[in-house]
Amino acid sequence: MERCERVVVEDATVLAQEAARRFGEFARIAVEVRGRFRVALAGGTTPEALYLLLAHPPYKDAIPWQQVEVFFGDERFVDPQDPQSNLRMARETLLSRVPILEKNIYPFPTVSVTPEEAAERYDRTLRATFEPAPVAFDLILLGLGPDAHTASLFPGDSRLDSPSGTLTAVIHHAPKPPPIRLTLTLRAINGARVVMFLVHGSSKADAVRSVFCEPADPLRRPAQGVNPTSGKVLWLLDREAARHLAASA
Ligand code: 6PG
Repeated sequence: MERCERVVVEDATVLAQEAARRFGEFARIAVEVRGRFRVALAGGTTPEALYLLLAHPPYKDAIPWQQVEVFFGDERFVDPQDPQSNLRMARETLLSRVPILEKNIYPFPTVSVTPEEAAERYDRTLRATFEPAPVAFDLILLGLGPDAHTASLFPGDSRLDSPSGTLTAVIHHAPKPPPIRLTLTLRAINGARVVMFLVHGSSKADAVRSVFCEPADPLRRPAQGVNPTSGKVLWLLDREAARHLAASA
């Protein structure tokens, strides 16, 4: 796979199928090579179809779930039972349906902590889990917002211009509700071996065009800040989301 690969498929259904195939492949290779597969799940609605596919045959039986460790790219700062919770969505569509070990599910804390304490705790959890190696996810799944945000990294966030050393951050006034969110930073994302964007629908077409065709400016287009240091970026798009891209762009 090239450092930045773009795949355009017919529609959201085929997008989920292609994403599931790749997810299974990354998982198998990671477990073969390193004995475990560490993946950060995306929130929002796009990945739900992927997660449901992974929770059913053939993926339910083919993926070595006992060696899978699940993290989150971002989380809304709400109760885990809140319908807005990314953890709740992941549990309902995937985690409650596969034999993953509960100890291998690492959610952002959102109960009995402040957002700042939650971000600090998750940063410590990541470093402790990966040490002595640096934090390097085998796969990070990401979505894309109509404003080219990704995870909970939104345009205008000054931290995007000067990525600090932290792996997590708190967002207090997110333009996409709910307003308080926790997120991996670009530093954490860019340490990944593979980042896979899943984007479908015409509502994302302008954002996709801007990410691929406008000058790199992560402050204005956060998804442009995703450039893994030694990893790869895979964009899975459906035709609607890619409709402003020339075939060769
Ligand atoms: C979130 C996501 C967010 C999402 C995009 C796309 O928690 O909201 O992390 O970054 O991936 O906004 O959302 P949809 O998949 O719902 O279009």
